Amino acid sequence: MRIDIVTIFPDYFGPVGADGRVGDAGPLGVSLIGKAGVRGDIDFRVHDLRAWATDVHHTVDDTPFGGGPGMVMKPDVWGDALDSVLAAAQATAAPAPAAPARLVVPTPSGAPFTQELAASYAAESHLVFACGRYEGIDSRVVAEARTRLPVDEVSIGDYVLAGGEAAVAVIVEAVCRLLPGVLGNEQSHSDDSFGGTGGAMSGLLEGPVYTRPRTWRGLEVPDVLLSGHHKAIARWQRDEALRRTAAARPDLIRRLATRGDGLDKRDREVLAEAGFPVDAENMAH
Ligand SMILES: C[S@@+](CC[C@H](N)C(=O)[O-])C[C@H]1O[C@@H](n2cnc3c(N)ncnc32)[C@H](O)[C@@H]1O
Repeated sequence: MRIDIVTIFPDYFGPVGADGRVGDAGPLGVSLIGKAGVRGDIDFRVHDLRAWATDVHHTVDDTPFGGGPGMVMKPDVWGDALDSVLAAAQATAAPAPAAPARLVVPTPSGAPFTQELAASYAAESHLVFACGRYEGIDSRVVAEARTRLPVDEVSIGDYVLAGGEAAVAVIVEAVCRLLPGVLGNEQSHSDDSFGGTGGAMSGLLEGPVYTRPRTWRGLEVPDVLLSGHHKAIARWQRDEALRRTAAARPDLIRRLATRGDGLDKRDREVLAEAGFPVDAENMAH
């Protein structure tokens, strides 16, 4: 997979070479994702947006039409940057990619970034991220890009960051850990919260996890986890996942219950005990 990131703060992602490749520090260079980059499974390129600014001050922003506070990122600079990044990736891709790149533009006004979206991005061959700053990017940049490639505006949560770099770091990490070979144990993401790609916990938050020592500050690991009884352990883990999800994210339980196969008899008992009876009334909202 190739990942291009355009930003006015390339250093945010670690030391960047003249060819846009990132060094082994920063969020793209460390841990399993960093190793995938070193292996060549992910080709990260980070670009300084100011390289496409044409004035002596390398200006990338201007005052908003219609007035109001803050500055807006200029469409001409962004347009040239995206043209150039897309063309360079196209020129070096071997073999030629079957699908066009997908442009991802983080913005608080975008669609929520979810595990499902992460999985769909993990199936792409080329992602290009446009990091906004100030009051965001002139809206014509996305409108124009949509005429020639798939474009997603995505939000990582209901809060406002100062810039898109942190959002891109979040999205890239969520996507890259799903790529084949990045995590040592493929099972580890199918059991994650939100069910990864359809494991036993599909649609639920993950329940509590434990490791040695068995007793720590007077707190014991639940007996069932020491029993060696795989079926009982799986059931206990699902019960705990249901309890945690009902408490923290009842919206996920409602979504699961509307899927025909979402909840079995025992699931419904656990939820009823947790004070969250799943019935027709609960499903209504
Ligand atoms: C200060 S914000 C702009 C906020 C914009 N004026 C608004 O109210 O929607 C600057 C940049 O931070 C990034 N950003 C901020 N919050 C974000 C979020 N929740 N999700 C994704 N990106 C975000 C985007 O790239 C955005 O262009």
